[in-house]
Amino acid sequence: MKIEDIEVREIIAKEGSPVYVYSMKALRSAIAEIKELAPLTRYAMKACSNVRILKEMKAHGIHIDAVSIFEVERAMRAGFEPEEICFTSDVFFNSSDVDFCLDNGIYVNCGSLGMVEEYGKIARERKQGTQRISIRINPGEGAGHSKKTNTGGPYSKHGIWHENLDEVKAIAKEYNLVIDGVHMHIGSGGDMDHLERITGKLVEFAKQFDKVRIINFGGGLPYQYDPSLPQEDISGYRSILEERTARLSKHFGRKILCEIEPGRRFVAGCGYLLGEVRALNHTFDEDGKRLDYVLTNIGFCHLLRPMAYGSFHPIWFDDDQLGEEKDLIVAGPVCESGDVLTQKDEEPVPRKLPMPNVGAAVIVGGAGAYGYAMSSNYNSQPLLPEVIVDGGHWEVVRRRQSLDDILREENSA
Ligand SMILES: Cc1ncc(COP(=O)(O)O)c(C=O)c1O
Repeated sequence: MKIEDIEVREIIAKEGSPVYVYSMKALRSAIAEIKELAPLTRYAMKACSNVRILKEMKAHGIHIDAVSIFEVERAMRAGFEPEEICFTSDVFFNSSDVDFCLDNGIYVNCGSLGMVEEYGKIARERKQGTQRISIRINPGEGAGHSKKTNTGGPYSKHGIWHENLDEVKAIAKEYNLVIDGVHMHIGSGGDMDHLERITGKLVEFAKQFDKVRIINFGGGLPYQYDPSLPQEDISGYRSILEERTARLSKHFGRKILCEIEPGRRFVAGCGYLLGEVRALNHTFDEDGKRLDYVLTNIGFCHLLRPMAYGSFHPIWFDDDQLGEEKDLIVAGPVCESGDVLTQKDEEPVPRKLPMPNVGAAVIVGGAGAYGYAMSSNYNSQPLLPEVIVDGGHWEVVRRRQSLDDILREENSA
């Protein structure tokens, strides 16, 4: 199997495995598609924050949505100007976050009443004068591919509750803050119907803030991970956003800037996680039915999504000779039964795949978003290298971590 013009087995032979690989061609095509949707597009860099990916975004005029001060700094080091970055801290600021933003001119998007107050207080103590801020509104409902990624409604910690908008106005007034941005992000992995409805709600909330200049509809663009199904069509979102923004512009009699900040849809499809089949195993269930396990070196320490959410990722094997298709459970090296790539609702789910031999390459698709970014050192597994493929050229843009790297961080080692 090839990624662009490069055989995956060539990358594994030279770089070892597991290894993350990103196709620039796929990334550029996602960027082109998403840029069409709104006048200003931010990249929610939490999805994949590799600096090479960030630089590619920058080269295409994409701005940044950062969710921690570390992401803000990382984006700046990748070459983004402070005015290209919006900092959506979760529901509180860490101690020096506000100072950093005020020192560097970073626009903040406040997701709680307390954040607005803290920002205002610190700006006043520093005698910074009037400051512009954005507020993140929880519209009372949300959506996501999992409850864990739903960031709206009463069971989400995110955002200023939609019934508290008078309070936020009062706090802003007291601290001389101008709310010129309204924002909403109701979750990751939802669907277009939900986005269509909820964007209308945001417009109505935004009408309550008479200094509004920017309306940010968040991320959450859907992505179909299963290549046997049609990809989610997002092209209709443009006219929805145009209509919403025009409505707000008309209400205020001035031009309003429409922003979106997807993460997943930008990078999910450009990423692959390459590994190797290390062993085969089988068990028998209570009814005597045989369950076949293909054991690979890809674990949930490398790709958490199947374990965390039961997410589907396409899997291919690459070998000189593959066997017949069989129901296979594909699992990893982590010492937990939940370390299964093919699972749903905490149960292994066999998938029809050609039987590989030990030593075959395994390719996991849709791994660009929330893949490397959510990986860990669990089981003392080193973090993986990241490789960029661009046409017939490939290069390692992050080296493989070693156990020495891990131990260096420990004082007692
Ligand atoms: C504030 C914010 N914006 C944007 C996103 C991107 O979401 P998605 O990757 O679903 O587009 C996220 C992720 O959940 C987020 O927390």
